Amino acid sequence: MKDRRPVPQDLPNGKTETELGWHVRRDRQGWGYATEAASAWMGEMFGRGEAHLIALVRPENRPSCRVAEKIGMHIEEDILWNAELKWPHHVYGVSNPNLDQAVAPVPFEGTFIHARVWECP
Ligand SMILES: CC(C)(COP(=O)(O)OP(=O)(O)OC[C@H]1O[C@@H](n2cnc3c(N)ncnc32)[C@H](O)[C@@H]1OP(=O)(O)O)[C@@H](O)C(=O)NCCC(=O)NCCS
Repeated sequence: MKDRRPVPQDLPNGKTETELGWHVRRDRQGWGYATEAASAWMGEMFGRGEAHLIALVRPENRPSCRVAEKIGMHIEEDILWNAELKWPHHVYGVSNPNLDQAVAPVPFEGTFIHARVWECP
């Protein structure tokens, strides 16, 4: 897992985000596996210092919307994904809470700079 690199997702708004995705084999769906795995990967990525994660979900895909919501994601934007297909998608997103909490002002020669620190995993 440590060697895996995130796959960037280019959004229509010009931002490049890191996306979490999930897919569970049909006869094991509804057992909580997607939520458990997505939550574990979110922790792993935030532990590596990732600031923000997204999940692209079609609005009619209620099980996938629930997975995103259960791991703490919220709809940040609605987009038409893919220039040719123009599929409506929710952009679910979540920010790394450890990074926000770690920002603390540090005095320096009469002015202020900000130090960003977080615990190593
Ligand atoms: C989406 C997917 C990964 C979910 O996997 P899973 O292991 O069933 O997910 P979980 O068991 O962790 O959670 C599913 C949630 O969806 C809910 N759910 C299932 N069917 C639902 C429906 N028709 N309407 C509303 N909610 C539904 C479940 O009740 C559960 O929520 P709850 O815990 O609040 O009750 C799985 O359905 C899948 O692989 N689908 C095909 C691939 C896919 O669509 N991937 C996502 C692309 S964005």
